[in-house]
Amino acid sequence: MAKKKYKNWKIEHDGDGIAWLHLDVPKSSANILNESVINELDDIVKVLLEDTPKGVVILSDKDSGFIAGADINEFTTFESEEAALVNIQRAHLIFNNIENLTCPTVTLIHGFCLGGGMELALACKYRIAEEDSSRLGLPEVKLGIHPGFGGTVRSIERMGSFAALDLMLTGRVLKARQAKKTGLINYAVPKRHLIKAARETILKSPKIRKLPWWESIVNHSLIRPFIARMMVKKVSARASQAHYPAPYAVIDLWLKHLNNRTTMLQEEAKSIAHLLVGKTAQNLIRIFKLTDQLKGLAKDKSIVINHIHVIGGGVMGGDIAIWCALQGYDVTLQDQRHETLAAVKKRAVKLYKRRLRQTRLVNSALDRLTLDINGNGLVKADVVIEAIFEDAEVKCNLYKEIEPKLKRTAIIATNTSSIPLEKLTDSLKKPDRLVGLHFFNPVAQMPLVEIVVGEKTSKKAQQVAATLTKKIKKLPLPVTSTPGFLVNRILMPYLTEAVTLFEEGVPITVIDKIALGFGMPMGPIELADTVGLDICLHVAENLAESMPITVSEHLRDLVNKKILGKKTGKGFYTFKKGKKVKPKTKANYIAASDIEDRLILRMLNETMACLREHVADSKDLIDAGIIFGTGFAPFHGGPLQYVKDRGQDKVLQALENLEKTHGPRFKPDEGWKTIMIE
Ligand code: NAI
Repeated sequence: MAKKKYKNWKIEHDGDGIAWLHLDVPKSSANILNESVINELDDIVKVLLEDTPKGVVILSDKDSGFIAGADINEFTTFESEEAALVNIQRAHLIFNNIENLTCPTVTLIHGFCLGGGMELALACKYRIAEEDSSRLGLPEVKLGIHPGFGGTVRSIERMGSFAALDLMLTGRVLKARQAKKTGLINYAVPKRHLIKAARETILKSPKIRKLPWWESIVNHSLIRPFIARMMVKKVSARASQAHYPAPYAVIDLWLKHLNNRTTMLQEEAKSIAHLLVGKTAQNLIRIFKLTDQLKGLAKDKSIVINHIHVIGGGVMGGDIAIWCALQGYDVTLQDQRHETLAAVKKRAVKLYKRRLRQTRLVNSALDRLTLDINGNGLVKADVVIEAIFEDAEVKCNLYKEIEPKLKRTAIIATNTSSIPLEKLTDSLKKPDRLVGLHFFNPVAQMPLVEIVVGEKTSKKAQQVAATLTKKIKKLPLPVTSTPGFLVNRILMPYLTEAVTLFEEGVPITVIDKIALGFGMPMGPIELADTVGLDICLHVAENLAESMPITVSEHLRDLVNKKILGKKTGKGFYTFKKGKKVKPKTKANYIAASDIEDRLILRMLNETMACLREHVADSKDLIDAGIIFGTGFAPFHGGPLQYVKDRGQDKVLQALENLEKTHGPRFKPDEGWKTIMIE
């Protein structure tokens, strides 16, 4: 084979006649299948078809892994479905050529092998993965698409229908052992054996495990429709077809075309081209990129955080401490009550057992979490997270007491959900060390942390807070220290409007169903019950001073009666064993047509106000914050993207109509006329 130089690939021929194709995309921490990689691969494979070696091994020279997927930046550049199809068909041809090589082909996998990377691996005859680091999967549904380089067909051939469909429909990522069990790979081996395993596999060309006998029954054209119906039912419980068409398209491909491989490959290409240019995929891809943008906000690599001291072991402080220790930090947790600390330890054991499974790992996480009633950990802390009662005076007294004991460089991060930092800084000798680190409840599940930047907060304190957030696998969003910051400020009008609707007599199930229909992950009434009605009331009362929200008397009444939502078994809903009991709605109830707009437009109006006031730095960051902080229907791409898609004029018009019918709380923010959302 002629020695040609490639930008991304290096080809070596060894003494056994095996061609080793090393991928190392320049100036990128991970390998991705971009146009240039695919073009070169096309060229390489054509040569291999003409001058076929004894075997081909495809491997990565990157530490980060094999291939993290296709280049999603290119997904957003197709001008039409036809243009996308041409591109996809070309990749199909290359992958088919790899499959058609007459010699044994092996992919050697370590680290990430996802999406297009996994599809490339599936086009080879054998897949060998390093047993510890490998993470394999076809997570395309998370971006609103499905495998598109022949992966739907080949994964089913290698794994069987159930296992492959499960992988594609859930987007799950597997470790090497699970991948071996399911048939996604052939061998899982220790790192030191990888090269030897590849060479031996080529030289011996071992038999490939056959699928079990019952596979032909599952795949029978008379049985498939039943199974497909079952799968559609399961998928629809998680995501509606109108909002998330990709998983339904996978089931459809399997149902209609499994009997004809060539047709299924062709239809896969058409289907993904169609999905790629659709709104859902474009918005989900945008969100994926926004995640990177948020992570990129923690850019100061010089920051070192060794020890975290958390003060306040209640709902939030306890869970923050548990989470930080889970992510590898040494944490001391201080509270004034022994019982509170003991309860935190119990919660930690429960979470660690669930997440870490192995006793050895659970024990070392527990070792990292020290209960510290006397606050001995303060002196060595790089970050002090304060999560005591929401009372400015109490917090100030605490700061005065602890500041003299702190390291010169230590920052204080308050988890306050409503107190502007300016009300707290005067208590400090070094006010620039105070920053907000606003976690959401429940800490383990909510991906966003608002980094609240006060007038005096130093750049360093900001960066330390952002770095810590990223290190504990959360997304940092810098926001100004204005009432409600970003997320609560936008969520509250939506929740209070839902309560107003309830007070007007709209059944709670109807209110929640309408919000779910818009694509929210949970209805506002259930959300209020889940967050806790006392917390909602507290935030609403705080924000009512600066925003047009009315605090519901009914809500106040419930809280006075200690009816606080899920945690007390009753709120707007009744909860049995933590599960919501759905009250019956009158069968002939007809909901007013403006309910969806009343809920959503209150959020959009507040979003516009936040944009105008620069609560977060850009439109993108505001959208990201609201999606990750409130769960705002991801397929809409965020509230501002939704405004853009629906039309800014139309949203403004709708707000003006609502103001006429329902009053001044719908008065459009002045930003609607001065800011263009592009
Ligand atoms: P909590 O009442 O459950 O816990 C507060 C804890 O602080 C108690 O265990 C108390 O014993 C302890 N404490 C009070 N003063 C202390 C002191 N001087 N020294 C040591 N320990 C002290 O409160 P929660 O809900 O955890 O809230 C804490 C902070 O987090 C508040 O600022 C709140 O606004 C904020 N927050 C709360 C959220 C929620 O959903 N609960 C969400 C986001 C922020």
